[in-house]
Amino acid sequence: MRKPRSVRDADVGGKRVLVRADLNVPLEGGEVADETRIRASLPTLELLLERGAAEVVVCSHLGRPEGEDAAFSMKPVDVRLRELLPDDRISVLENTRFNPGETSNDPEFARQLAGDRDLYVNDAFGSAHRAHASTVGVAEILPAYAGLLLERELEQLGKLLGEVEHPFVLISGGAKVDDKLGVLRNLGGRADEVLIGGKMAEQLRDENPLGFEVRLPTDVVAASEFAENAEAMVVPYDALPEGWLGLDIGPETGEAFAARIAEAKTVFWNGPMGVFEWPRFAAGTKAVAEAVAKSDGYTVVGGADSIRALSELGLADRVDWASTGGGAALVLLEGKELPGVTAIPED
Ligand code: 3PG
Ligand code: MG
Repeated sequence: MRKPRSVRDADVGGKRVLVRADLNVPLEGGEVADETRIRASLPTLELLLERGAAEVVVCSHLGRPEGEDAAFSMKPVDVRLRELLPDDRISVLENTRFNPGETSNDPEFARQLAGDRDLYVNDAFGSAHRAHASTVGVAEILPAYAGLLLERELEQLGKLLGEVEHPFVLISGGAKVDDKLGVLRNLGGRADEVLIGGKMAEQLRDENPLGFEVRLPTDVVAASEFAENAEAMVVPYDALPEGWLGLDIGPETGEAFAARIAEAKTVFWNGPMGVFEWPRFAAGTKAVAEAVAKSDGYTVVGGADSIRALSELGLADRVDWASTGGGAALVLLEGKELPGVTAIPED
C-alpha cells in the first residue's frame, strides 16, 4: 500500500502549519456530544507544538451544511479543543463547508486555505475519501504531509488487506448496504466466515451477488412497527409475520455469531446487527460487540455506529483498532485509493 510521507519527517520549527483534521463530531445543544475525533486529533497537534511550529491552524468540515449555518459552526469544537490543548499558537477555522468551494475542490478556496502558511498536514482520515479543497486542493499548493492519525489508520486497516491470521471473520450489518458490498467483495472471499446481520442480511437473503457463502441469521427479533417500544417477539428468520419488521438478530444467531468470533484470529466488524439505540433491539449488537472485545485475535472495528455501540458498552479500548473513519475505512478496505492520501507525496 502507498505510504504518504509523515509529519514526523517534516521540518516544522518556526513554520505556520495548516492541519486538516476530521473534527466532524456530533453536536447537541451547542456542545460537542462525542469528542472521540477531537481527542484522536491531538497527537499530531501536540507533535507540531512540541517541535516548535509558530502557528497551528486547524480546519475541518462539520456536518453537511448548505452554506453558512450557525447550527454547523465549529465554535463548540474550537472551545473543546482549546480546553484539551491550551496553547495560543492553535486556532480553529470555521467549517470548511460554509464555502461551496470546499466540496467542489475549487482552487480559489484551496488558495484561501493555504493563505500564507508554510505547510499542510492532513490528519483527517475520516474525510480522506473526499476530494475536497481542504483534503486535496490545498495539498497541491503547500508541501503536504500525513498526520499521525491518518498514518495509524492506514497502518492498522491496511493489515486487513495483507496477509492475515486465520480464521478471519468478517461481520457486517447496519443500514447502508450498498456502501458495504464493496468491502465484502474485496475481503469476503479471503474470510473464513462472513457473518451478516441488520438490513444487509435481508438483502443478501433475497439475492447474494457476492459469489461466496455468507452466514445469515437463523432467528430475528420481530417488531410490530418501527418504534422504540413496539411489540417484539423472537421468530425464525424465514417466518417474519406479514407486516412485522426484523429489528435485531435473535438470541440463537447472536450465540452462533459469538462462537465464530471466539475462534477467530482476525476480525473486522462494521455495522450493528439491529436498531441498537433501542434497548429492545440491542441484544444482538451487544452480543457481537462483547464477542469482538473478548477475542484474542487482531480486532478492527469501523463505522460510527459500531464504534458507538462499543463505547456505550465501555468496550472501545478492548479492540485493537477502532477506526475514526466510517466511509473512508470502507473505501480503503474495498481496495480503492483515498484521494486525500494520494494527494500527499510518498515517503
Ligand atoms: C464522516 O463523518 O464520515 C466524515 O467526516 C465525512 O463526512 P461526510 O460523509 O459528510 O463527507
Ligand atoms: Mg460519513
